[in-house]
Amino acid sequence: MAYLEVKGITKQFGGLVAVDDVSFEVEKGEIISIIGPNGAGKTTVFNMLTGVYQIDKGEIIFEGQPIHNKTPREIVKAGISRTFQNIRLFGNMRVIENVLVGTQIRTEYTFFDSFFRTGRFRREESEKVVKSVRILESIGLRERMDDYAQSLPYGEQRKLEIARAIATDAKIILLDEPAAGMNPQESEELLQFIRKLRDKGYTIILIEHDMSVVMNISDRIYVIDHGKRIAHGLPAEIANNEKVIEAYLGGVKKDA
Ligand SMILES: Nc1ncnc2c1ncn2[C@@H]1O[C@H](COP(=O)(O)OP(=O)(O)OP(=O)(O)O)[C@@H](O)[C@H]1O
Ligand SMILES: [Mg+2]
Repeated sequence: MAYLEVKGITKQFGGLVAVDDVSFEVEKGEIISIIGPNGAGKTTVFNMLTGVYQIDKGEIIFEGQPIHNKTPREIVKAGISRTFQNIRLFGNMRVIENVLVGTQIRTEYTFFDSFFRTGRFRREESEKVVKSVRILESIGLRERMDDYAQSLPYGEQRKLEIARAIATDAKIILLDEPAAGMNPQESEELLQFIRKLRDKGYTIILIEHDMSVVMNISDRIYVIDHGKRIAHGLPAEIANNEKVIEAYLGGVKKDA
């Protein structure tokens, strides 16, 4: 059984079948990309994986356990965390505080502990700060720690979202177009960083439009078009796949 098994998931919005019977598997330590044209259903797949949307049909099995009817919070606790296509940070909170928010999901102390600021509370809180600073260091945002999140350039806000996802002690990290809005140098750094995450044992599922990123980094690629899985394979196979080329050129005459 694969680490993550997605079996025939389907999501309908009114008359539109946004994701139609999509299946895929991810092994531990892989970097898997999900690609496809605009509106193909990629983000909807992430929303189903993270419990934002209930699935209409199918199953999602992570480490042998079904997770498809769990709440977003339960899924983060199980070890699946994400970033958003439209950055969702607390802009008027500091960089470090945004990462701390990620660590809170693992809180062990009780309300009593926090109310009376017990030793346990203070110990846990200081451990979380140390952990958050380390994560910021690893992603190159340590010097920005005290800045307000909204003051960061776009590329750094995307990194901060990844930092927050890591802070939840995720095992699988879902990245929804992490290179969007990054300049070539920033995307190259991001690539290196994602590889480092994989080397540390994280499993990565990536949605990305930047083909230089996708082709460089992916172990395998799944392609979705109009809600359906149309191809799966190694980067070189996908780059030469007729159906994939057709989906991307869709409607564009070849001689035009
Ligand atoms: N909450 C929703 N209600 C209604 N329709 C939705 C909803 N979310 C997504 N859709 C529709 O489902 C389809 C798939 O959307 P989705 O955001 O998953 O595409 P995508 O592959 O992520 O596209 P993009 O590359 O533009 O981000 C689109 O037609 C979209 O308009
Ligand atoms: Mg999307």
